[in-house]
Amino acid sequence: MSVDWDKVIEWDKKYYLRIKQSAEEWTPIPVEKVEGSYIITPDGSKILDFLSGLISVNAGQRQPKVIEAIKTALDKYGYVWEMMQTPYKSLAAKLIVEDILGKDGWAGKVRFASSGSEANEEALIIAKLYTGRPFIISREFSYHGWTLGAGSCSTFRWWRNTIANARGEYKEVQGFPAQGFFVARAPFCYRCPYGYDSPRECQSGGYVACLKDMEYMIQNLGPQNVAAVITEIISGGGLVISPPEWVKGLRDLTRKHGIILIDDEVMTGFGRTGSWFCYQHYGVTPDIMTMAKGIVSSQLPAAGVVVSKEIAKFLEDYRWWHSPTFSSHPVVMAAVCENIKLMMEEDLPARAAKMGEYLGRRLNELEPKHECVGQVSGLGLFWGIELVKNKKKREPFFTEDRFTKGTGDVSKWAVNIVQTKALEKGVLVGGFTPNCLRIGPALTVTQEEINRAVDAIDYALTALDAECRS
Ligand SMILES: Cc1ncc(COP(=O)(O)O)c(C=O)c1O
Repeated sequence: MSVDWDKVIEWDKKYYLRIKQSAEEWTPIPVEKVEGSYIITPDGSKILDFLSGLISVNAGQRQPKVIEAIKTALDKYGYVWEMMQTPYKSLAAKLIVEDILGKDGWAGKVRFASSGSEANEEALIIAKLYTGRPFIISREFSYHGWTLGAGSCSTFRWWRNTIANARGEYKEVQGFPAQGFFVARAPFCYRCPYGYDSPRECQSGGYVACLKDMEYMIQNLGPQNVAAVITEIISGGGLVISPPEWVKGLRDLTRKHGIILIDDEVMTGFGRTGSWFCYQHYGVTPDIMTMAKGIVSSQLPAAGVVVSKEIAKFLEDYRWWHSPTFSSHPVVMAAVCENIKLMMEEDLPARAAKMGEYLGRRLNELEPKHECVGQVSGLGLFWGIELVKNKKKREPFFTEDRFTKGTGDVSKWAVNIVQTKALEKGVLVGGFTPNCLRIGPALTVTQEEINRAVDAIDYALTALDAECRS
């Protein structure tokens, strides 16, 4: 099929309500097709996608077995709702609860949804039903989605359904975040809000400072009022990698007060960090875990909520009226099954760990080489580079940093400068906060692709070095 790109762009301009850029700023990026890790534009240019979509195409694009499964399920079923049995939903549930999570002992049952926001919305509802408590605590620099509940846990204010423009105007949705949502400090040790230089210094008194603060918060709210703490263990947006002591301490704290721990693995799940799920690196288990993106490598809209055995038993004693039309859609479930089987056959989490070690080593080589690199951190195939104006003082280029409202000239953001320069070399990297570059290729990435991407990042960082001051 030949595409008239002028028409496509004209219709988009006229009829589609876009995000991220104002009408004036809009720059269309036509995509002819996607092949492997490459986005191919109509003029034949190939862009190496080192963000794997939205850090979401874990098993790679257009896997033939996934395509075949989608075609077969569509041909046979089209749509039936979840109260009717198709083979796919039950198999997907078994693969996740028994084959992937069985050895960890905690997982009881799973439900399926269509997006990460919806999965988190559902997790919050379950936690409130189970505990009979009203309040939710999330942490700074997090993103859990955009719907009322999930969005109220999302603490990046720019991403919280706001509107902003280059002229500096900014508006938030009134009545949002909703009542009953509270924000705790995140263990962002690179710029510790308590002034500690390192996790070791912070923990010299035998506790983690930001966790102590969360404990005070729980005491002040009344533990009997707190239904859940929801967190990403590695924050997708701002690459805050939780120290093990924080994760273990949070698990102890929530257990002590009967608070549900919701582990949002929408971005970190399905092999991204070098294990099936990120919590597995930390020797703890959650009460509820949410997932999306990698569950189907984003080839269709799919998400899920896994609940512990205790919570599953509790819910199954009732008739629970909760039924999104698209939950467990057979075509989507067929793709989920095939995607997971493929990840198992090729042991993609182990591959991510191995290739991630290589990627991490290569990225860490850039730190001493570039004035603008403050910190390189990551796990598996999920990495971030903290871009700084002054390395010694850890001074960010944009002082608002993770509190950005997204106003002003965002093309001047350090991440966007690096993105533009890396694109000159045909590699896509980027970020949603001004100073934090995110890197997250598909788990099928090759060593050659890593070398190409690191060379492009190296080139792009050199341009930013010129903006540093010592
Ligand atoms: C950690 C995390 N949770 C939730 C979401 C929301 O998922 P969705 O965009 O599918 O609603 C995202 C999306 O990027 C995410 O990264």
